Amino acid sequence: MDCFIDIHCHILPGVDDGAGSMEESLSMLETAAEEGISDMIVTPHYKKGRHNAGVHTILERMRSLQEAADEKDIPVTLHPGNEIYCFEGMEEVLDAGTILTLNGTDRVLVEFSPTDSFVYIRNAVDSLRGMDYIPVIAHAERYKCLLEHWEYAEDLKRLDAEIQVNASGIMGGQGAQVKKFTHRLLKEQLVDYAATDAHDCQRRAPNIKKCAAYLYRKYGSDYAEKITYSNAFRLIQE
Ligand SMILES: [Fe+2]
Repeated sequence: MDCFIDIHCHILPGVDDGAGSMEESLSMLETAAEEGISDMIVTPHYKKGRHNAGVHTILERMRSLQEAADEKDIPVTLHPGNEIYCFEGMEEVLDAGTILTLNGTDRVLVEFSPTDSFVYIRNAVDSLRGMDYIPVIAHAERYKCLLEHWEYAEDLKRLDAEIQVNASGIMGGQGAQVKKFTHRLLKEQLVDYAATDAHDCQRRAPNIKKCAAYLYRKYGSDYAEKITYSNAFRLIQE
């Protein structure tokens, strides 16, 4: 229980509201390594109509950061991805290769507005599934409709979506309601990935160790290992 994989982080320098410089990226990576994270899927934001880093830039920055990390002997391996803010027609843009799935797999990390309705989220899941993508719902604890009806998460799982929650939410860093919600999902084993969603070295650092220890204690090693390591391992194997 000392090796983890993070499928959601904003560690690439200068591509979104995450790390602002190579120095910051490297110190985030140092923290990640200290936390026991062996692999990270980098997931810069992609929001339609905004200035987004293109695939070429993402891959290039990822390679530079990996090289810099290797030089400093930071034992973390990076893999490509995006966090996509849901929009109509995203399947076609994914098909065109303009947005990245998680490490080239069929998994797509997709986020919604906190106030989007459940019908909207469900339709988006349906539509991605229809095009053979498997949506991974980013920080499921952020959506009002799910917070108010945890059982909606069950419906999403039935539609073959996967669920990611942030470690900070599990640990209570986002308040009591979020904590209660994440623990309900964990109790029902509806969570597929616990991730950091790290943006910097301070308030949103790539911390997972305490959360993982807590998950092992509270939910048993089989399930805790799945959501902190082995489910994500399937994505980086390919
Ligand atoms: Fe994110």
